[in-house]
Amino acid sequence: MALLEVSDLTMHYRTRSGWVQAVERVNLSLDRGAAIGLVGESGCGKTSLAMSLLKLLPSNAQIKEGQILFDGNDLVPLTEDQMRRYRWERISMVFQAAMNSLNPVYTVRDQIVEAIQYHMPMRYEEAWSRVAKLFEFVGLDPGVMNQYPHEYSGGMKQRAVIAMALACDPDIIIADEPTTALDVIVQDRILKRMDEIRSELNMAMIYISHDIAVIAEVSDRIGVMYAGKMMEMADVVTIFQKPLHPYTFALMSAFPSVRGEKHELVELPGEPPDLISPPKGCRFHPRCPQATAVCSEKAPEFTEVEPGHFCACWNPRSK
Ligand SMILES: Nc1ncnc2c1ncn2[C@@H]1O[C@H](COP(=O)(O)OP(=O)(O)OP(=O)(O)O)[C@@H](O)[C@H]1O
Ligand SMILES: [Mg+2]
Repeated sequence: MALLEVSDLTMHYRTRSGWVQAVERVNLSLDRGAAIGLVGESGCGKTSLAMSLLKLLPSNAQIKEGQILFDGNDLVPLTEDQMRRYRWERISMVFQAAMNSLNPVYTVRDQIVEAIQYHMPMRYEEAWSRVAKLFEFVGLDPGVMNQYPHEYSGGMKQRAVIAMALACDPDIIIADEPTTALDVIVQDRILKRMDEIRSELNMAMIYISHDIAVIAEVSDRIGVMYAGKMMEMADVVTIFQKPLHPYTFALMSAFPSVRGEKHELVELPGEPPDLISPPKGCRFHPRCPQATAVCSEKAPEFTEVEPGHFCACWNPRSK
């Protein structure tokens, strides 16, 4: 059985204008030590899905349906108190834009020590030396531990929040846009280090990005989301070479390929839908070049089309 097995997870936000259907019947599974990349346009529900997995949700959010089996236990019915045993210690997260939320008035070391002591009974000195080890581990000089966040470069801050996520030796790290704010060279170095950490510690990773090219480098499998739904999931090579969903194909065509053959960059007409009243049937159908009558009537199931390759489409491109 997979370490994490999510089935039909549905999470909506209550707003004045209605329920925002941000995560709709999402399925995914993650093995110990594996890495999955979640991609999709801004607003498609990537962060909402990540926060649902940890049940770190605002008060207007509600998990409507589904299971989050972690190590065989369903997290959905757990209370806040029970969830605390899982968060950080079993599943931790590098939050979107976390590097900008380091507290400016405390040294970086003290902020990580505080996070460690909150979850593990440890004396200050012990936690302190743990931070030094974590710093070395993520490629930071422990000599800079006592500095304040404003003395760090962007890349150093990002490494520090990764160190914080590693503090309690979790089984899974969810990294939400971990390198988006950084230049490409720093981005590449940090992702490479995270990938090494994954294999050294046999830790599973969920990378989230709107840039498929960036996370493909460090993921075994890619999940493509559109308007709150998981549209396709397969190993990286299959997603690049044989995408079945017209949306995945459009997403791939929108990126210039460096090594592959030259191809025309296809622009996808239209906008992603309003998630308060998404289109009936397949949520992608109004923008889909392959849509037929059934697509506006009934939502296609997310099914395993070939071993390890899942797709939710009535008219997949070709098998
Ligand atoms: N607290 C909230 N209350 C109501 N709606 C919300 C809330 N948070 C997010 N949403 C809505 O949920 C949908 C999914 O948002 P989410 O932030 O999960 O997308 P995302 O894929 O992470 O986008 P990005 O790439 O920009 O980070 C959007 O329509 C967003 O407006
Ligand atoms: Mg997000």
